[in-house]
Amino acid sequence: MTAQHPVRGDVAVLVPAAGLGTRLGGGTPKALRILAGESLLSHAVRRVAAAPSVGYVVVAAPPEDPGAVGPLPGPVTVVPGGATRQASVAAALAAVPDEYQIILIHDAARALAPTRLVEAVAAAVRAGWDAVIPVLPVVDTIKEVTASGTVVGTVDRSVLRVVQTPQGFRRAVLAAAHAAATDDHTDDAGMVEKLGVRVHIVAGDEAAFKITRPVDLVLAEALLAGTLLS
Ligand code: CTP
Ligand code: MG
Repeated sequence: MTAQHPVRGDVAVLVPAAGLGTRLGGGTPKALRILAGESLLSHAVRRVAAAPSVGYVVVAAPPEDPGAVGPLPGPVTVVPGGATRQASVAAALAAVPDEYQIILIHDAARALAPTRLVEAVAAAVRAGWDAVIPVLPVVDTIKEVTASGTVVGTVDRSVLRVVQTPQGFRRAVLAAAHAAATDDHTDDAGMVEKLGVRVHIVAGDEAAFKITRPVDLVLAEALLAGTLLS
């Protein structure tokens, strides 16, 4: 673990950044891929650290070389991540000092998530919700299909939402979910739901999309260059 730093806010943010980036390709851990001269992780951390609520940031780095994350904007603690996202989150959570009772978890791969989204999620936890997730409407028609390739039916998308990060939790709830988890989860709120905890939704943000495939990197570059519509 590297340096500890002064507290500004009452929120600690865990940034899982230990994934391989298999779907993006390119051979480098995804969080270390460069976008407009800065790693995806650095973009994500800078936007998180700018939130007044945030007092502590822990990055779960690629375990084979945690130092490869390089210098990051703002005071950040770096720990080695795990083989699964859930293990990376658990490793980061273990590094958060006891005084932080509000924990946000934010994918490094959502490099352009705006600071105001961090604040909105933190505010909802502070207001009393045990678990908070940002969501967007589903824009595509969704079909249920069989393994053999025929359509079972069309799902009512008005009741569906796409889930983003940062997700926010009261610390005791998140810790209990990790203690109770048996199978692997890629969604933190999913673990908490299994405890029977009510999860609150807030409006997500288009810019908080997850850079997953090569086309997402192109979109991120266009957004940053301000050329999306030209
Ligand atoms: N992550 C992590 N530890 C892992 C796996 C994933 O910290 N063992 C992080 C990723 O670095 C990413 C976030 O979880 O910031 C969301 O995961 P995803 O988008 O799936 O990233 P990767 O796992 O890197 O990508 P892929 O699934 O395509 O390999
Ligand atoms: Mg993954």
